[in-house]
Formats: sequence, C-alpha cells, structure tokens
Amino acid sequence: MVRKGPLRGCVRVPGDKSIAHRALLMAAMAEGTSRIEGLPSSDDVLATARAIEGLGAHVSVEGRFSLADLGCLLDTACADTDATAAVGDRPPVFTALVEGWGASGPRTPTAALDCGNSGTTARLVMGVLAPWSVEALITGDDSLRRRPMGRVASPLCAMGASVARPGSAVQADSPSALSLPLRFEGSPALEGVMWDSPVSSAQVKSAVLLAGSLASGTTSFSEPAPSRDHTERMLPLFGVEVRSVGGRLVVEGPQRLHAADVSVPADPSSAAFPLAAAVLSEGSRVRAEGVSLNPGRVAYLDVLGRMGARVGVRAERAGAAEPVGSIEAAFTPSLVPVETDPGLSASIIDEVPVLALVASRASGTSVFRSVGELRNKESDRLAGIVDLLGLLGVVAYAQGDDLVVEGRGRWSASSTRPFSPEGDHRLAMTALAAKAAGASVSVLDAACVKVSYPGFLTDMERLMS
Ligand code: S3P
Repeated sequence: MVRKGPLRGCVRVPGDKSIAHRALLMAAMAEGTSRIEGLPSSDDVLATARAIEGLGAHVSVEGRFSLADLGCLLDTACADTDATAAVGDRPPVFTALVEGWGASGPRTPTAALDCGNSGTTARLVMGVLAPWSVEALITGDDSLRRRPMGRVASPLCAMGASVARPGSAVQADSPSALSLPLRFEGSPALEGVMWDSPVSSAQVKSAVLLAGSLASGTTSFSEPAPSRDHTERMLPLFGVEVRSVGGRLVVEGPQRLHAADVSVPADPSSAAFPLAAAVLSEGSRVRAEGVSLNPGRVAYLDVLGRMGARVGVRAERAGAAEPVGSIEAAFTPSLVPVETDPGLSASIIDEVPVLALVASRASGTSVFRSVGELRNKESDRLAGIVDLLGLLGVVAYAQGDDLVVEGRGRWSASSTRPFSPEGDHRLAMTALAAKAAGASVSVLDAACVKVSYPGFLTDMERLMS
C-alpha cells in the first residue's frame, strides 16, 4: 500500500483507455486483420475485447498470455493458481491482432455482453451494433447499471435502432430514460441523423459517428462544448472520412472500414495521479513518458499551471493520429487557487478529482465550473471528492453543478474514518495520491484501480523507493 513520498523517476503508465476501446471496436468493424499495440490490460479494455469476441471478431494476443489469462490475472479471486502466481509478470500492456467482421457484420451473441464497469464499452458497442440486424442483451456491474444510457439510445433509435427492457417485447417508450440491462436491436435500414446532443459526451458522439459511418445518408453531430476527439481522429485511419463543418462533425454513409495498425500511447488521465502526487510531495520530480498529448486530454496541465504547479511538457512525435510526448511535474511549495471555465469541463472531467486534490493545497478558494457530469461517472464523483477532501480537513462542496474547494495551503486530518472510493478507480487513485503526498488517510478497496491502471500501486511504490 502506497507509502509517503518523495516520488522520483520516470513512469510508463498503461495505454490510453479511450483510444484502446476505439481501436478494438473499429478493428472489429473492419475488413481484415488489425494489429493494436500498447493496449492496457485493464478491466475496462478487456471488457471491450471480450464484447467484440462475443460479436464474432477474432482476437488473439501476442506473447504468452491469452485474453482469458489477462482477465484472470487481474482478478484476485481467480482460482487458477498458476495464473495467480504469475500476477507479478502480468504485462501492463499487450498487443492484439483483431480480425474484424467487415462486410459480413457481427453475429448475434450467444450470451449477454457484460461490459463490467465500462461505460465506454456499453455506449460505443450500441453504436457498433446499430447498423446490423443483430440483437444483444447489454449489461454491466452495479455501478454501470446506475448510469444513464438514454443519451446514446435516443440518437440511435432516431436512426432506426430499437431498445427494450429485458423481458419486454416492446420498444421502450422513452429511450431517454433507459439504463442497463437493455436489449438492443440494430437495423440494416439505419439512416443518418442530425443530432444536437444536450450533453458534451465523447461516448455519445462516438456511438453516433460509428453508427453513422455505416448508416445510409448524412449523419451530423454537435455538442455544447468539445469532448475528446479520438473517434474522429481514428476513423480516417480505418478509411472513414469525417468532416468538421461549422462546428458539427459530419460523416456520409455507408462507408467501409479497412484494417489498420494502431499504436496506443500512454494514458494522460492515468499519468495525472503520479504527476499530481509529485506536485504535492516535497522533494519530488516525476516524468511520465510516451503519453498522448491530445489537447482535449491534457487540458488539466493548463489548470495545474494556472495553480502555479511546476509542470512541463515535451512533445516527441505525432503518432498516426495522436501527438505523443512526456510530461514532467515537480514539487511546488505554494499553489494558488483556480477557477475553471464551464467550456473546459468536458476536457478535464476525468481529472477533476485529482485537480481538486491539488486545489485543496492551494491557499484560497478554487471553483470548477459546470462539472455536474461527475455525478454520472463510475460513482457520484462530486460526492466522493467532497468526502475525501473533508477527511483531509478541507471544506469542499457542490454548488449546483460547480465544485468549490476552500484550500488553506495544507491538510489537517479531521477524522480517522477510512475513505471508501465506492469502487471508483479514479477516486481510489486520487486518495492514494493524497496518501503518497503525506495525507493520513486510509483507502478501502484500492483494488478497483485495475479498472484503468492495474499496476498503479507498484508504479507508485517504485517512484517512492
Ligand atoms: C470517455 C469519455 C468521457 C470520460 C470517460 C471516457 C471516452 O465520458 O469521462 O472516462 O472514452 O469516450 P463522456 O462520454 O461523458 O465524455
């Protein structure tokens, strides 16, 4: 369990979860065999790999582990003694060869598609299935079953797909109110749609664009503020043209996807935790290497910079579709509060918990504007951050959709109650980063970090040794 800093050295965090999901799904949709390297062996990405297998794509893993082994190695309850003995050898990233279903389409799965904890899997899979005459039961764990699915089901139903609650023969009256489990049925007569999403969501946008690339006619999508753009960057690699016209993304269908090779860079959202711990821990300097520097993903570095944190970026190369480089952060003895713009919220949404932690050590009140979407994540992250900061003796609260953090330049333990991340990987890593930076907080169920960053505890220990 994470000790106290300083943290020093380089870290290679796992491959980017968002890019990995998209590479697997597009490879499954494509004609031919794609090679994807740098996939993180995290629960969420394995859920997508298993979902495309269930739909008929052929997935093989290079090296000595199979897909089933990787899942088993992550599962501490796994009964296979050989596999559990090998946990230390589990590769943090793996390479997969994916033979897609191409023009023959996915097959009707024989079992439910269990997306585990992964919202990206559940929502993007619906977009992938929408243009085919295939029916699937889509489900997930307790957390995922509480999350809104209507935001994706609504545009896909407007295009011609249908959704129903399991056990019900009829199409749901109001797809906007749906949650998992649900029965999703695609349609080969899918038609393009002009969709104005009320929420900024890369998952909604991606589902619509993936469906639209195989639907007939024009699909166009707009959202209130830009969300991460990996789908529109990656679709052209697989041969699909996406245009940006007057603030809308436009895809003309139907098009064909062709196999491509993708190299997944390291995940900037995962890197945020050791980097933030370095900013907060005396004597620390940490460099994260090979990280995606996609501007829609590293906006949190600007926020850290505005707090006065010592962070720097070095661009190394533009990968096929993503800029890649290293990020360095060093201990910063005094931090100033920050106010973030509502238009920035979609670009920093996954990092708000750890940004709030850094803000809790600034002298003064920080406000993260329009971050109400945090309530719809793997847990109610607004409530989780407020709880964690309270345990560190810092007043924080939600005011409407804004998060207010009243930093006082230091932490003072206010309770010995352990922090429960409620199974939420990003809350667990935020609390563990606080601990590494000297907070006296104990963290329950830290194993949930495996949702995105299975080697987190090992990497943090190594940086502190
Ligand atoms: C993701 C999009 C974001 C983010 C999530 C991953 C994606 O959610 O919070 O962790 O890969 O598309 P939204 O769909 O709400 O933007």
